[in-house]
Amino acid sequence: MSNRKKIAVFISGSGSNMQALIDASKSGLLTADIVWVVSNMRKAFGLKRAEKEQIESFVYKKKSYDSPQIAGDDLLQKLQERHIDYIALAGYLQLLPEVIVKEFKGRILNIHPALLPKYGGKGMYGQHVHKAVLESGDSESGATAHLADEIYDNGKILEQFKVPVLESDTPETLAARVLEQEHKLFPRALQELIKGKYEINDG
Ligand code: GRF
Repeated sequence: MSNRKKIAVFISGSGSNMQALIDASKSGLLTADIVWVVSNMRKAFGLKRAEKEQIESFVYKKKSYDSPQIAGDDLLQKLQERHIDYIALAGYLQLLPEVIVKEFKGRILNIHPALLPKYGGKGMYGQHVHKAVLESGDSESGATAHLADEIYDNGKILEQFKVPVLESDTPETLAARVLEQEHKLFPRALQELIKGKYEINDG
């Protein structure tokens, strides 16, 4: 019976950050296993990546439950049945149910494509983030790995990596430069979290 930590990855889209975690687990950079993928979008390409990697997945549709409470309890039960130790939010565009944020306090890691606390919060995802950075005239952007709580992009920041913003940048070119760093930062930050590098008092 392996004592390696078990990770559930939550996605909503292409899942390239999830793939970075899977690749890091295979290469040994991440000494844990991705054992479950949860998506709120049935057509998320990340589900195809999970299938290819033979990782169990689940489409979590809150509206398919009689109440948000029941939805949250069911998802928590499924996480516990799978003995999940950590949750990685890899482009997951919904808030987690409070019951899960409470149960997994200090064990939920999110990746955000900007230098939080700037350009975070509800509605700040994907191209919206990079458009806002370009409109601001900031000379740099970057990626942030942070603990997730019941508020979008709000928890304790663990790691950040800066990238330059170029005159010629479009939201797409900036997104690509940031995403490249996300793929490096996310597995590293998750490994450090699992190894207990961060003092998690305020969670
Ligand atoms: C990434 O930029 C991530 O930071 C943001 O959404 C994007 C997800 O991309 N939360 P992917 O689904 O991991 O490819």
